[in-house]
Amino acid sequence: MATIDQPAAVDGDKLMQFVFRAVDEVGATLNAALVVMGDKLGLYRALAGAGGLSSAELAERTGTAERYVREWLNAQAAGGFVAYDPESGTYSLPPEQSVALTDPESPAYLPGFFQIAIGSVLDSPRITEAVRSGEGIGWHDHVHDVHDGCERFFRPGYNAHLIAEWLPALDGVVDKLERGGLVADVGCGHGASTILMAQAFPNSTVVGFDYHAGSIETARDRAAAAGLDQRVRFSAEPASAYSGSGYDLVTMFDCLHDMGDPVGAARHVHSTLKPDGVWMIVEPQAGDRIEENLNPVGRAYYSFSTLLCTPASLSQEVGLALGAQAGEARIRDVVEAGGFSRFRRVAETPFNLVFEARP
Ligand SMILES: C[S@@+](CC[C@H](N)C(=O)[O-])C[C@H]1O[C@@H](n2cnc3c(N)ncnc32)[C@H](O)[C@@H]1O
Repeated sequence: MATIDQPAAVDGDKLMQFVFRAVDEVGATLNAALVVMGDKLGLYRALAGAGGLSSAELAERTGTAERYVREWLNAQAAGGFVAYDPESGTYSLPPEQSVALTDPESPAYLPGFFQIAIGSVLDSPRITEAVRSGEGIGWHDHVHDVHDGCERFFRPGYNAHLIAEWLPALDGVVDKLERGGLVADVGCGHGASTILMAQAFPNSTVVGFDYHAGSIETARDRAAAAGLDQRVRFSAEPASAYSGSGYDLVTMFDCLHDMGDPVGAARHVHSTLKPDGVWMIVEPQAGDRIEENLNPVGRAYYSFSTLLCTPASLSQEVGLALGAQAGEARIRDVVEAGGFSRFRRVAETPFNLVFEARP
């Protein structure tokens, strides 16, 4: 006998809980713009270590308009980013927020995370159209905040982990690089990881590749600013066809899943490595099953994946679209399909998985 679906009963309390959760989310969405604003205008830097400041004092120190600054400060205070003292009418940055919002050397440094988020949101009308059409949008096609924010978001993690933990976790690699090896950093973006490796291993030659010419130009500027332009080289070439061979180490930081043809890239890495060379793959932290990723980090990464990584992959040949939350099992499939016989996880952080692949 046919049954008629009854509308599910709505629990009024649960509805209101959801509405108030959404109010918090709207505040958080708007706050992303305010954090980027505070970072660009130097508002957090002026507050850090300054004790209590009035809105007029902060405006004066940053050359900004007091009426705007007052509103910005109240939004920051309501969100717990800034502390407000009602007696003196002053605002201060707690020490932990000072580190997270103003210290680019700290692994907890956050402005880049917000900057790449706001850049992604600014581009979202085009992604909405792409979701209709199924077309891709390349990494090169995004606003500058995406590229700059990406560099600023990832660099603190590389500073904290790459030389101290990730490279030592690879079998025999540090010894080789200390003696003098050849390294390709593929999908290097603005070259944060490339420059770190060149600084740490002066006897080695490090080459950064990325298909995006604009990123490669910035990477060259960064190397020159670090005084490394003689020791590190950058070239605009894709992962499937970058030049050179006999590499001791090929690295890919947070980019394999962005590629349209990661298996083709894996085959190319295989063909350019020495027989005892190593491919290090750094990917976003993720479990293999969706339900393992239904947490705050997974939420941020699935969102970036919708707005950046999936369209990037779909814009390229093959368009495999692994997604930022591909997880270890899918990465292993790609690596093995590329001809590698050994694959293992060597390290992880709350944000990254690190793998070693050998021919
Ligand atoms: C999320 S960003 C990571 C950049 C850099 N590795 C980092 O960690 O800061 C992804 C990078 O992959 C690059 N990319 C995407 N597809 C590529 C391809 N097929 N060949 C080379 N680079 C590619 C993009 O241009 C972008 O710079």
